[in-house]
Amino acid sequence: MPLCIVVGTHWGDEGKGKIVDYLGKDADVIARTQGGSNAGHTVIVEGEKYVFHLIPSGILHEKKVCVLGDGMVIDPFAFLQEIETLLKQGIEVKGRLFISAKAHLVMPYHRLFDEFYEKWRGKGRIGTTGRGIGPAYEDKVARWGIRVIDLQDRDSFAEKLKMILEYKNLLLSKIFGHPLLSFEQIFAEYLGYAEKILPYMIDTSAFLYQSLNEGKKILLEGAQGTMLDLDHGTYPFVTSSYPVASGSLLGAGIGPLPNIEILGICKAYTSRVGEGPFPTELKDEIGTYLREKGKEYGATTGRPRRCGWLDGVALQYAIQVNNCTSLALTKLDVLGGLPRIKFCYAYQGIGKEWREFPFDSRFLDHCTPLYEELEGWEEDISSARSYQDLPTNTQRFIESIEDLIGIPISLISVGPGRGDTIIRKSLW
Ligand code: GDP
Ligand code: IMO
Ligand code: MG
Repeated sequence: MPLCIVVGTHWGDEGKGKIVDYLGKDADVIARTQGGSNAGHTVIVEGEKYVFHLIPSGILHEKKVCVLGDGMVIDPFAFLQEIETLLKQGIEVKGRLFISAKAHLVMPYHRLFDEFYEKWRGKGRIGTTGRGIGPAYEDKVARWGIRVIDLQDRDSFAEKLKMILEYKNLLLSKIFGHPLLSFEQIFAEYLGYAEKILPYMIDTSAFLYQSLNEGKKILLEGAQGTMLDLDHGTYPFVTSSYPVASGSLLGAGIGPLPNIEILGICKAYTSRVGEGPFPTELKDEIGTYLREKGKEYGATTGRPRRCGWLDGVALQYAIQVNNCTSLALTKLDVLGGLPRIKFCYAYQGIGKEWREFPFDSRFLDHCTPLYEELEGWEEDISSARSYQDLPTNTQRFIESIEDLIGIPISLISVGPGRGDTIIRKSLW
């Protein structure tokens, strides 16, 4: 298929970066389409670790073209820093990395408001990454966001910044008691970025359209996950963009088209960073086992991730809302060594069994997950390279999930490295 959308099935950190890197070898163009530097995608190739926040994980494949699409919010400092880090690691991006003229810029006041909003919410805080993502999208929707293309014209950029900053300063000083931000300082800082980032700017939507027409293969790298989607996630404990597959098309500027591979990335257990409902969360020694063995600490903020059994209710919902064609099951190796393994197939609450995801967070906080329990395996499966290499109990776990979801698990990840991957069905 010419287009493959990689989408997280839960609350992010499912291993999207690793899978995109793996699939990237067969793609021509790899694009991020939504979110910003709140994402943290870790890729390990031949023992070298790369962490991506804005740049698509496909960049490690020499000669592949990478795109930061229309729907993104780009912090220019973070973007330039990421390029520099890549260069130090021997990865050259010139001529094969492009950013959308229409993408919005994350400004210094966005990061400040992110912090102040969280304080204002108090106990109801979201636990954001603090990267200014929500406030940047808020300005976009209010139609006074500053876009990459605005950096092209010094005078009109100055005019836009002056207008918005006057308003932001009023809020900052009157409501949050913060000192006024200096127009001159921000203007100079962003003019400095302009010089460096404008050479990367193109009409990415037109580029992707042309690439598809030339028969090229495009891989869209989702950030965050379905349950963090602004419309379809556990609102208000969500991010401010649309990580679902249709949001990915929207953010890429690609219209709906037939024959798309929509690959859901699902971790063999579930994790969540920040606040919000998480019915299968384990606050016991098994939760700690998963966090420590799975190295579940945020790639962006370093926060420990909450861990629990695989939430199959959320998974089935994600498959429905994304119309997933198949699944990649990641971090299966982490479950090794546990005597019993569970996955949740329904929630119990208010006198009934729920197989559809219920959106009342008061219910989600108090429901009881119903689990299917299977025997675990002792073996280290990280060197398995074919389905037959996996212990019978591991295969049973995989097949039980397939029975629950009704779509194939086409790819299995048994370690963080590029090669630690088992392919059951070719995607392209
Ligand atoms: P993303 O945000 O969805 O790209 O996921 P993250 O990169 O934030 O988190 C996934 C973490 O698990 C990263 O540190 C990966 O290197 C690692 N990882 C990915 N797949 C596997 C796997 O199959 N096994 C193990 N042990 N680690 C994995
Ligand atoms: P990747 O792409 C996990 C979470 C934050 C918080 C909520 C809102 O690595 O999977 P935001 O800063 O976006 O306003 O925070 O969303 N969050 C993520 N959690 N992985 C991510 O990205 C995330 N991006 C945002 O922890 O709960
Ligand atoms: Mg991540």
